[in-house]
Amino acid sequence: MIDLIEVYKIYFANLENEVRALDGITLHIGKGEFVAIVGQSGSGKSTCMNIIGCLDVPTQGEYIINDVNVAHYSDDALAALRNKTLGFVFQQYNLIGKLNILENVELPLIYGGYTPKERREMAMEALERVGLTNRILHFPNELSGGQQQRVSIARALVTKPQVILADEPTGALDSKTGIEILELLQELNREGCTVVLITHDTHIASYAKRTVSLQDGKITSDRVKGGLLS
Ligand SMILES: Nc1ncnc2c1ncn2[C@@H]1O[C@H](COP(=O)(O)OP(=O)(O)OP(=O)(O)O)[C@@H](O)[C@H]1O
Ligand SMILES: [Mg+2]
Repeated sequence: MIDLIEVYKIYFANLENEVRALDGITLHIGKGEFVAIVGQSGSGKSTCMNIIGCLDVPTQGEYIINDVNVAHYSDDALAALRNKTLGFVFQQYNLIGKLNILENVELPLIYGGYTPKERREMAMEALERVGLTNRILHFPNELSGGQQQRVSIARALVTKPQVILADEPTGALDSKTGIEILELLQELNREGCTVVLITHDTHIASYAKRTVSLQDGKITSDRVKGGLLS
């Protein structure tokens, strides 16, 4: 499903200094996995997620998703792939304040050629999935942090993506609300969605079935629950 092969992301701060945000990463993520990518601040987690999410391209190496090497995709083709295959969840929810909850969740469907009625039905279904149908006409700033994150998960789900990418999704939440969000991701994974969770916190990572640790842009361990992969 997802393959990074010898992927490097190198930033050149100036002629003498380079930052190897990713320093030769090879990683396979299969369909239906729930993988946490952990590491300290600056270890390369977000860079890795941006490449998996087709928001950025490697300096060197290959990225393959669904058997397609996206290196030569145009920006439009990448946007279409993102919209169809991937759902994103961010620490700060990234909801649009001027739009109500229903409109926020409908937004990714605008590009899918659905009728307004279909969009509404699909958004309602996604909001039902996260338990928020009683809030659809509210605006994001009228909801709690946990509720806003549920909306952002509904927005990620509404296109029925194969993969959900979540970068520190509980980072702005108290621990009890954070656990509810992690349990929701576990449920979605049980229903067949591949989940990639980025976190600096090993306890949060323990909700995943597999944990990949990054340090200075390199993979330092890759463990499945109850065993060791490499
Ligand atoms: N646009 C950029 N230009 C230069 N260096 C960058 C750029 N983006 C990231 N870096 C560097 O790459 C390294 C990895 O950054 P990244 O954002 O992936 O870390 P992270 O693991 O997500 O950290 P955090 O937990 O703080 O979010 C860091 O040293 C960062 O300073
Ligand atoms: Mg980050």
